[in-house]
Amino acid sequence: MITLGIETSCDETAIALYDSDKGLVGESVFSQIELHSEYGGVIPELASRDHCQRIIQIYNQALGAIDPSEIDYIAYTAGPGLLGTLLIGENFAQGLAIALNKPLIPVNHLEAHLMAPFLSTGDISFPFLTLLVSGGHSLIIDVEAFNKYKILGQSRDDAVGEAFDKVAKLIGLGYPGGPEIEKISKNGDFKKFDFPQPMLHSPNYDFSFSGLKTAVLYTVQGIQEMDNQIQADIAASFQHVVTEVLIKKVTKALEDTGRKSIVMTGGVAANKLLRDKITVLRDKLNINVLYPPLAHCTDNAAMVAYLGSLKYDQAEYNLFSQARPRWSLES
Ligand code: KG4
Ligand code: ZN
Repeated sequence: MITLGIETSCDETAIALYDSDKGLVGESVFSQIELHSEYGGVIPELASRDHCQRIIQIYNQALGAIDPSEIDYIAYTAGPGLLGTLLIGENFAQGLAIALNKPLIPVNHLEAHLMAPFLSTGDISFPFLTLLVSGGHSLIIDVEAFNKYKILGQSRDDAVGEAFDKVAKLIGLGYPGGPEIEKISKNGDFKKFDFPQPMLHSPNYDFSFSGLKTAVLYTVQGIQEMDNQIQADIAASFQHVVTEVLIKKVTKALEDTGRKSIVMTGGVAANKLLRDKITVLRDKLNINVLYPPLAHCTDNAAMVAYLGSLKYDQAEYNLFSQARPRWSLES
């Protein structure tokens, strides 16, 4: 069975094909990073227009030599995400469903991220915890079994990736901010600035990053002349604080639940310092740490096609819109 996956929830236009016997058989992703870089964040209207312009080309690239008649199911991200961009993916999915007379499987983007590590291994071993940290989400999720998800903690304001992007902009770095901050931090001293570690000691698993961002703003406002060294010191100090908070919360969640595996996913999971700290934690607590390959940590359609393949029982010929900007994993 071949499932076509479509992802347009934010700024990646992505299409992939997952064959239940052979695994991933086609994939194409276009990232709109350049389009949004001058604004330091995603502009929804521009994102929607660009998805419209690219999606057919991405579809053809993903298909390669596969004939559309070989597609059995069409899975697409129905939420959460930007409504305008979700609708582009949904309309495209519906058009294909009519043309090919194949059923649709609307999927939850966050659930697709959760399952992404098993796309390559094919071997899902429940239960596990997931730290999902991206430009739009910061969540600690307890995955007891398929469809049994509990959000243990989440950001009360900015997502972690969003905080990286905003702080990068404040100190004059490019977009996306995460990789820029990581790069310049190598030359910085993380002890130079004593930024607050928000909610570090709160008795729950939630995060908050807007206060930290404001602390960086005040620091920047107090600096007469920004130079490379100050940029690097702020970046390193910020990165230190963020990773400390994430690790502290993850440690608490692992200890309280007794889970022995953690999946690290989302764009921020690419961060080397975070990975190093998780490795230390792995050795200390004797746990497994799983990462999807980098290309499937960030937004992609392979995870959507794969999740669709696990949900054939939910396939339907119904063309009602299922797109929703908010869609809790627990619902
Ligand atoms: O998962 P993703 O590609 O897209 C969504 O937001 O859904 O995540 C992008 C976010 C951006 O905010 C970017 O700055 C951050 O992930 N990011 C990083 C790193 N690479 C990407 N943050 C910290 N360190 C990195 N190496
Ligand atoms: Zn995502």
